[in-house]
Formats: sequence, structure tokens, C-alpha cells
Amino acid sequence: MSEESRHVYPTAEELAAAAAFDLTALAQRSVVAHGLFTLALAGGSTPRLLYSLLANDPAYRNFPWDKTQLFFGDERHVPPNHPDSNYLMVKNTLLSTGLVPEANVHRVRGELPDADQAAADYDIELHTFFTEDRRFNGFPRFDVILLGMGPDGHTASLFPGSKGLEETERWVIANPVEQFKRHRITFTFPVLNAARVVYLLVAGPDKTNMLREVCVEYRHRPRYPVQFVQPVDGQKIWLMDKVAAQKLPPLLT
Ligand code: 6PG
Repeated sequence: MSEESRHVYPTAEELAAAAAFDLTALAQRSVVAHGLFTLALAGGSTPRLLYSLLANDPAYRNFPWDKTQLFFGDERHVPPNHPDSNYLMVKNTLLSTGLVPEANVHRVRGELPDADQAAADYDIELHTFFTEDRRFNGFPRFDVILLGMGPDGHTASLFPGSKGLEETERWVIANPVEQFKRHRITFTFPVLNAARVVYLLVAGPDKTNMLREVCVEYRHRPRYPVQFVQPVDGQKIWLMDKVAAQKLPPLLT
């Protein structure tokens, strides 16, 4: 059963606080339900605030990091100390606190010379951890996957017009991204759609028009990658700030 909901917050800070609160509750519930919490992180700038809150705000000190397994929904094809690295962003905001046991962090080895090799390496990491009992329809069943949305409607590293949009078998691929003239390693739609909960964190004026396209103009005629995130048996939860949602009719939020 699949559900979609939208929530609007006055500011990006309040969006991050709501996400931190929800994630902490979901993590605790997952640990009670099946002994662990599997979380795939989003890259980019929007989730930085969320990761910093989880790391530093005493309100979330009960987050069960010892039982949390952290993965990356996508990664740039760069070494972990490169300024574009999503891992580096997560390290600087969360991992540097030492809260998360190193063994619980499953990093994409973006430093591998060949992007396909980096994707294949991560695929092994995923298949090793997500044993049969942790799968849904043959794909890894994450408790939560965090995603962002680009102004062009991409999510993870599934960009409009990119080959990765058609992938239906593999769990993770090296997706050639034209505008960057580089590959990005990314989860595929079947993995995103096998999750229990997918959060879309969308904030800022540069997302206003695309949110209008996605939630109103093309609501019933999916056109952009983010619209193909449709959990088969799970929830899709949009957390938006007021600025990003300003062109949405009130009933839609
Ligand atoms: C990445 C992300 C990407 C991001 C969107 C939104 O690696 O950059 O996975 O999909 O979520 O581009 O990015 P911002 O949060 O920076 O707007």
C-alpha cells in the first residue's frame, strides 16, 4: 500500500527540525520492530542542516546510531576528500562527531578509477548487507531513504534524459550525467521504490517552479524523475519549506 503526503514548514530550519524528529522516532520504532534501522542519505545542500541537528542537538541524543546502518543514495565519482563528495558533507556534519560506529557506515568508493567499478563495488556491499530477509520484490528494503529534488526534477542522481531512468534490474549504477560530463553512482528506481519510507526534502526558491510542475501541472502525468519515486508498499513524504511550496494550492499541502 502506497501513501503520499506533503508538509510545509515556515523555514528550512523548521523543516530540518521536523525531519530530525520524525527520523529519530522512525529509527527507534525500526529498532524495536526488527532490531536495526537502515537509512540511505541524500547528498546536496538541503540535508546538511538535518545531519547537523541529528549530530549536535540534544533533542535527538536518543537516536539509536549503534543500531543504524547508513548508506548513500548516490555519490559523485570523486574521492571521499573531494569537495563534491556527499560522503565528505556527511562526515563534516555528522560522522565527525563519532556518534555513528564506523562499521555502520557504508561509503561508496568514489575514488575507484572506473565509475562502473565503483557502482559494482557498492552493489556487492548492498547485496552483502541486504540478505533475502531484508529484501522486497528482490530489492533492498530500506527503512528510510532520504532524497532531495533538483530544480530540473532529478532525484538521487537520476537526471532527466539519463540512461539510469530505465534501469529495472540493477540496484546501483554509474549513471552518465550529460550536464556534468561525469558519471554519478546512484540507486535505481526499484531500490527507491522498495523502501518503507521515502522522504523528499525540498527547500529554497530554486525549487518553487519545479514543485509546481510536479505537484500540480504534471501531477497525474509523471514527467520528471522525482515523480517516478513511487514506493510500492511504503510512504512518500514531502517536507517542503514555505518558499519552495509558495506556488502550490493550500489543499495540496
Ligand atoms: C546530490 C543529491 C541530489 C540532490 C539534489 C538537490 O548528490 O546532489 O543526491 O539529488 O538531492 O540535487 O540538491 P540541493 O539539496 O543541494 O538543492
